[in-house]
Amino acid sequence: MSEAEPMVDEFDTVASWTSAAVAELGEDHALPAACRGSGSPAALDWLAASMGLHGGTRLLDSGAGVGGPSEYAARTCGVRPILAEPMAGACRAARDLFGRPVVVADGARLPFPDGAFEAAWSLGVLCTIEDKRAYLAELRRVVSPGGPVGLLVYTRAVESLPDQPEGNSFPSRYELGEDLEATGLSVVAELPLADATSAPEGWQQAADRVDELIEHQHGEDERWQRAKKQQETIVGLIQRELVVGILVACRAT
Ligand SMILES: C[S@@+](CC[C@H](N)C(=O)[O-])C[C@H]1O[C@@H](n2cnc3c(N)ncnc32)[C@H](O)[C@@H]1O
Repeated sequence: MSEAEPMVDEFDTVASWTSAAVAELGEDHALPAACRGSGSPAALDWLAASMGLHGGTRLLDSGAGVGGPSEYAARTCGVRPILAEPMAGACRAARDLFGRPVVVADGARLPFPDGAFEAAWSLGVLCTIEDKRAYLAELRRVVSPGGPVGLLVYTRAVESLPDQPEGNSFPSRYELGEDLEATGLSVVAELPLADATSAPEGWQQAADRVDELIEHQHGEDERWQRAKKQQETIVGLIQRELVVGILVACRAT
């Protein structure tokens, strides 16, 4: 993984600040604040249903960040999540917030045997990775044959982007399809993220309150400023539909 500074700021430092802010604001802020880049509960519900996740499913969350999405799936459909995430600060935050098993690991070199999980998902991670096939092949390897693999991928809708956030490389939908096929993942269902946006009342407000507290406490810190700039660039690309989020449910072939 590239240790580009904006990525460390966004995924390590801000992750640590997030768990501290939740500790101040209250546990009801944890889930919204800890879903970084995974969209809404509706998106997670769609993906979980399309993957056939159910009570007791051992689910690997690769690139889990602060662990919100897999905690949401644990609470709503009873999966047993295991988190893998390369940023130690995010791992600590996930452990402090939700107490699920978490390992510091690069998704391209997972410390698990073949077929260790019944299911795996990866949300908002692929666009941060250069060697996408190595990452996808590893996800495929650790899921039992025929098992479900879910993805949220931010795709590039144009040939070249006017602003390129540092450390990101967005695949086109065509390139994503080629990468999935090459790594033994066949697409079962697909949905534009924009079609699954509704969130329960208060979800966005809780996430905003956490962001506001972090800004209040760290707004002068250049690491926060770099992370914010990075976020704004990505959000701008999404708003102009130059980058489009898609949810993809696959099966390991
Ligand atoms: C946009 S965040 C999404 C976090 C989480 N999946 C979510 O939806 O809330 C992208 C995550 O990918 C992680 N990441 C970056 N490179 C990675 C790699 N090589 N293997 C696994 N995860 C990686 C980052 O550290 C970060 O936590």
